Amino acid sequence: MTSAGVERHYARSGLIEAIREGLKASGKELDRLSPADLAAIDEFHIRGRKATLELAAAVRPKPSERVIDIGCGLGGASRVLASEFGCRVSGVDLTPDYCRAAMAMAQWVGLGDKVDYQTGNALGLPFAARSFDIAWTQHASMNIADKPRLYAEAHRVLKPGGRFAIYDILQGPGGPVHFPVPWAREPSISHLVTPEEMRRLLETAGFEILSWRDVTAEGRDWFAEKNRQIRDKAVPPLNFSLLLGPDYRVMAENQERNLREGRIALIEAVGGRR
Ligand SMILES: C[S@@+](CC[C@H](N)C(=O)[O-])C[C@H]1O[C@@H](n2cnc3c(N)ncnc32)[C@H](O)[C@@H]1O
Repeated sequence: MTSAGVERHYARSGLIEAIREGLKASGKELDRLSPADLAAIDEFHIRGRKATLELAAAVRPKPSERVIDIGCGLGGASRVLASEFGCRVSGVDLTPDYCRAAMAMAQWVGLGDKVDYQTGNALGLPFAARSFDIAWTQHASMNIADKPRLYAEAHRVLKPGGRFAIYDILQGPGGPVHFPVPWAREPSISHLVTPEEMRRLLETAGFEILSWRDVTAEGRDWFAEKNRQIRDKAVPPLNFSLLLGPDYRVMAENQERNLREGRIALIEAVGGRR
């Protein structure tokens, strides 16, 4: 379970202050923020909030349901699920800087009593078996080599009949990934499987595939637009270089190229726990 390289990749001291400054520079008043105001930074995956709302539409959360967000990052999805759907959400993430920032942001938008975050590893979730109605994960598995264990943990913490909502970057047919990318500066912490392998791994872990959608083309168009903004120097103050540093620019170029050349694929899926 070596995760030090992944933690180093994402670690960012001074993050809460940087986000606060970014918000002020965007003209947002800190005492009048809504979860949507944070979306440019806290939805740390391709296609941002739109992708989160689409995954939510696929998994159909109910207000009484308890959700675990595995690899929750800054907690954007958890706050959408809490504020728009009334769920109670627990986020788990390897990166302590992200968990602290996630809690600060939840308090800024008045959701401190609907969400909680803790530093932890997806491969050993700090919850009892059958604790959740929905397990949710977006763009975290590409840092995790042991996918059988990742999926076994999601299965363990779900109640029977629970749903597993996934939005992930996978290996495409177009050849190896160009690095650096937002999840890895070099290949040692990147672990992509193909869509066929992911499907087989999920079924082996005890999930029935309830929905499956390839959204690679939408992701490619979204990144092309983001990169146009970077080239035109029209980048908003809140952007992913606050999380990844100045090399985010080259990561974003590579990401667009990886999508265009079919080196990565994007899948949104829901599994039903058997
Ligand atoms: C690209 S971010 C995505 C964050 C969030 N899910 C989102 O979509 O906004 C990937 C996240 O996965 C987390 N992560 C990677 N490996 C992990 C592991 N083994 N256990 C828990 N979190 C992990 C990282 O710390 C990082 O926050």
